[in-house]
Amino acid sequence: MLAQVADAVSQVSSAVLGQGAPLATGVSALEGTLDAAAAAAPGLLAPVVASLAEDVRNVLSLNLAPLTVLRLSAFYYLFLTRPAPFWSLLDYYVLTPGAALTQKRWAPAMFALRDRLGGGNYGVTYEAIKVTGPDEEVASRLTADQKNRRLVLKRVGEKLGSQSARSDFLSSGTIARGVAESGLVEGYMCRKLSRVPAARGKVAEFLGDFVVKQTEGAFSKGTQWLVWKFESDSTLGDALDGTLGPFPGCLTDIMVRRVPGTWDQEKRDHETIKVVLRQIFVALRSIHGSGIVHRDIKPENIIVTVEGKVLLIDFGAATDLSTGINFNPQYGMLDPRYSPPEQLVMPEKTPKSPPPAIASFGGPLLWAYGAPDLFDTFSAGVVMLQMCVPTLHTKQAQKNFIADLAKCDYDVQAWRDSGLPTSRGANFALLDRAGGAGWDLVTKLLAKRNSSNRGRLSASGALGHWYFRSA
Ligand SMILES: Nc1ncnc2c1ncn2[C@@H]1O[C@H](COP(=O)(O)OP(=O)(O)OP(=O)(O)O)[C@@H](O)[C@H]1O
Ligand SMILES: [Mg+2]
Repeated sequence: MLAQVADAVSQVSSAVLGQGAPLATGVSALEGTLDAAAAAAPGLLAPVVASLAEDVRNVLSLNLAPLTVLRLSAFYYLFLTRPAPFWSLLDYYVLTPGAALTQKRWAPAMFALRDRLGGGNYGVTYEAIKVTGPDEEVASRLTADQKNRRLVLKRVGEKLGSQSARSDFLSSGTIARGVAESGLVEGYMCRKLSRVPAARGKVAEFLGDFVVKQTEGAFSKGTQWLVWKFESDSTLGDALDGTLGPFPGCLTDIMVRRVPGTWDQEKRDHETIKVVLRQIFVALRSIHGSGIVHRDIKPENIIVTVEGKVLLIDFGAATDLSTGINFNPQYGMLDPRYSPPEQLVMPEKTPKSPPPAIASFGGPLLWAYGAPDLFDTFSAGVVMLQMCVPTLHTKQAQKNFIADLAKCDYDVQAWRDSGLPTSRGANFALLDRAGGAGWDLVTKLLAKRNSSNRGRLSASGALGHWYFRSA
């Protein structure tokens, strides 16, 4: 119902801004939605909804009594802003503890560990099988049924104990200190996102976490493990570095279902990259809507599946501005190859987070002030440039690019004109086609923030850019 109200409100506002259907259509849609809401509201809520409907009607007929405005502003702030305090509080105080109680109880005996998929700063990631029993044979070649039971397990590199993690860490609204707390952060972020409907199918499916009670093989007592569905054998990093064949051609068949024979190679590449990018921005928009900033967007943390889905992984550096979890204004956790010049999600003078209950109420104000999501959209802009310019596909080339961009004071147009090694002779055809739609988007994503912390496109802004409609 709230989604319908939000939709109707947005129809009215686009009508006011002259971008959509006539105002009268928007207003009558909103009135209709509110009447339906008042009629459908359960017992206790009915008078509240009816009073809100009356308030909206008053505003629409320009009858602006102070109490009406106050009530509507409070409603808007609590329910419809980003990240909305009502949902943040509900999630933190009701749904999070509920999920911890109801999540599947994992134990070492349920898994057979296989290859190492990665070994990052704070954990080692393994492919695993969920075994049917202690006697199941797991040969190096998996059966079709075993493939369906593949999981990903991440072992946090430091045991969870009173020395390594503060007992009140997730309720104090502060940044992770050390490896064990980073594991708690990743579990928290993934668990929260598994409850955000818009993020479903945009991030790897999280299945829970556990701490080992008794040592069993590689599962040593006290270690923290996180469990996901095994989504794919490949990341966008693998695709870019040529492991799957020449990029982006290696993704065309899975990303663009129907490829007309009339398309030339450049058009195919353009359409393929557009599908990947659109999914990255849709995923970012969904996590940002819940107050989470990823802070480590890069090709290795973006999975591509055989069904053509693009999913975000690796939330160990993420911060949740709706609760203050893993946030400290002075600290960035970043991969310098993809992080924006400001290096922090919020201005340094932002106050430290209060405990989650208070942080939730301040979340929308904080978001409006600091636009922390623009941290991730800069990284996505670097990924876009890397995908579109053939000589930037490899890790090393991308690293050289960011060093050259820094030499040009993060002015991407100056970098392009500079003749520095990474721009000299580079092929910008995919960005220049269709009237330079791609280049225009890249410059708006890699822009430096202005004095009001804006000046760069958000994920929603990027999705509305004409690049996505360009042929
Ligand atoms: N749900 C998943 N499905 C399939 N593969 C996954 C999944 N999650 C992670 N991986 C693979 O494991 C690798 C490491 O995972 P992740 O990025 O979460 O850990 P990390 O700590 O960053 O380690 P590294 O620095 O080695 O990437 C990923 O790059 C990806 O190849
Ligand atoms: Mg990673």
